[in-house]
Amino acid sequence: MNNTKPDISWVVADRTEKDVSLSKEMFPISRSREARKFHRQIPGYKMSPLRSLPNLAHLFGVGGIWVKDESCRLELNSFKVLGGSFAIYRFIQERLSLPAERLTYEYLTSSEVKEALGEITFASATDGNHGRGIAWASKTLGFNCEIYVHSETSQRRIDAIKNYGANVKVIEGNYDDAVRQIVIDAEKHGWEIVSDTSWDDYTEIPAWIMQGYTTMMAEIQEQLSGQGIIKPTHVFVQAGVGALAAAVIGYYHSLFGNDAPKCIVVEPEDAACIYESARHKDGKIHNVEGDLNTIMAGLACGEPSPIAWDILKETADAFVSVPDYVAAKGMRIYATPLKDDPFIISGESGAVTLGALVAILKERGVEELRDCLKIDKNSEILFINTEGNTDPVLFKQIIWEGSNPVPKEYWTDQD
Ligand SMILES: Cc1ncc(COP(=O)(O)O)c(C=O)c1O
Repeated sequence: MNNTKPDISWVVADRTEKDVSLSKEMFPISRSREARKFHRQIPGYKMSPLRSLPNLAHLFGVGGIWVKDESCRLELNSFKVLGGSFAIYRFIQERLSLPAERLTYEYLTSSEVKEALGEITFASATDGNHGRGIAWASKTLGFNCEIYVHSETSQRRIDAIKNYGANVKVIEGNYDDAVRQIVIDAEKHGWEIVSDTSWDDYTEIPAWIMQGYTTMMAEIQEQLSGQGIIKPTHVFVQAGVGALAAAVIGYYHSLFGNDAPKCIVVEPEDAACIYESARHKDGKIHNVEGDLNTIMAGLACGEPSPIAWDILKETADAFVSVPDYVAAKGMRIYATPLKDDPFIISGESGAVTLGALVAILKERGVEELRDCLKIDKNSEILFINTEGNTDPVLFKQIIWEGSNPVPKEYWTDQD
């Protein structure tokens, strides 16, 4: 490696004690149990695998590398469906004033519930995977669905949403413009918005979505304990609006308080709104404007979800922003396993955290972050492969054709 300056940027949180009260309030264990109980009833549900990469861990000089592989989540190639489906379940539960025990999956899909609810259209803006999850959940549960995407969304992603029977509308502008437009149109048409991002007076459904993601966390903890590990020492999690990161990090802080793993949030450099908010060190949200151009479609968001930011600002240990080729490198590492490590299909948003770890461990000029994270031979590092090849053409361009190559000065020498 002969870089003169690092290509990644970071902010280390400089607090001594973390305030975990919000994490405990938002992610009580009882809610995560309820989410898992609901998801378990969905036909086809099974735990997504937690994959171990011992040879890669050895190469990097760490104790273990664990990858929760959400490319195997139902038929959807991404974790996102966990949030949308749980939010729709909670919505119906509240609308019918039913206790959790009464609202089984079977009852939820019954004609009795349909009659009681009448016609409902669920609606959301998306940069791909959330919309696909909502379309799938609406179709599975028998409701209509309207999804708004922004103008940079690939046709493959649009088709994947349409396949589940949703109406898809393309909105001029970026993801945040699509969110603004669907709020206006939902009001006009009486649609129910199921958004993964929150705003001033819209927090309940985004909170349910985040709670829905904790099914994945409960699975991880069960899978790790099967390996004799109580908790990871480090968790790397990617962020768009920050809902996933807040769910992962909030869950761990709800469970372990100040003994939670060290948590690192990773974003694309042209859409790094959580990093930007952390960089100002004033506790406030700072948006990123522009076309949010990145290959990491799932992370192309310029405005953090306020309820997610409230958790992240109190609990995340570091905020990292990286160029696109770091994600492409992560994808190629997953796709070329060492010795008998498993092969993992990881899309652009899924692989960026592994790419970020390599940069942190190997690049010159990153010493401050390395020292603060204290990654060593005892570290058990958790990644979430949040998506498989959700855009198969882009996936092939990167893996087969070598698009988004790492500039030579950032090549790492690992023998
Ligand atoms: C594959 C993938 N990973 C990560 C994320 C980030 O989630 P969030 O927007 O909650 O930060 C998304 C969001 O759509 C995604 O699609």
